[in-house]
Order: sequence, then structure tokens, then C-alpha cells
Amino acid sequence: MDRKTFIKAGCLACTSIGLLSTLLESCVSVKYVNGQLSNDGITIDIKEFENAKRGNRQYVIVRHDDLQFPICVYYIAANQYSALLMRCTHQGAELQVSGDTLTCAAHGSEFNKLGKVLQSPATEDLRSFPVTIDGGRLFIDLRKNA
Ligand code: FES
Repeated sequence: MDRKTFIKAGCLACTSIGLLSTLLESCVSVKYVNGQLSNDGITIDIKEFENAKRGNRQYVIVRHDDLQFPICVYYIAANQYSALLMRCTHQGAELQVSGDTLTCAAHGSEFNKLGKVLQSPATEDLRSFPVTIDGGRLFIDLRKNA
């Protein structure tokens, strides 16, 4: 193999590795869960986190047709979760989740998994809700702020 062919093959291999890594990252896809809405809050099965952890994810996104914005629930530690309204506190756009960060495509604000502002223009932390565990169910209390 001459030098030119070797370099060409090397570049192709690097590009393939990059594409493969992007594909694998997207395989750690977002886990959407339909919660059960009640007057006080929304409930999900705690097993959803076991499935998420198997996929190397520490969060699930809870949706319901009656909720204007989804809620991102992060596993923090044993029996400790963070439930964040995915509404940007800058101008109200819906946030996207990427690993431990929630980002806003509108103007670039970022928040950590506890809802704290990491990047402006947002200056207020995300709305977060108390989470309690009852048996195999995780209850997100939508009446209160955490
Ligand atoms: S609405 Fe999110 S940064 Fe402006």
C-alpha cells in the first residue's frame, strides 16, 4: 500500500469511527414515559429508571397530553430524584436534554440536572417539583416547588 492510499484509508476509518460514535450516542435515545396524571401530580413506574440505566441514561422524560411541557426526571442518588419542568425560564421555549444538561435551542441557555442556570440569557433556575417514592411508583407533586 502506498502512502497516499494509506492516508486515504486512515481518513475513511476515522470518519467511520466518528459516524459510528454518533450513531451509538443516538442509540442512547431519549426515554419518553407517559405518566398517570391526577389532581395533585403525575406518577410513573420506578422501573422506567432501571430501563433507562441499562441504556446508560440517568433520566426519563415524562409526558402527558394535559401537560403543556414535559418533565425531565433525573436519578440523582438512591431514593433521590430531580423533576424539572422543561420550560426555559428565559422566554418559555421547550428545552432539550443531553446527558446532564438541559439546553434551549432558542437563545442558548443551559441548566444542570438540578435545574440551576449554567448559561445565560436565562437567569432563573428551572421550576422543579418534589418527588416521592411509594412502593414501585414515583410521584411528582405538581402543586409545589421542590
Ligand atoms: S427562550 Fe430559552 S434561552 Fe431564550
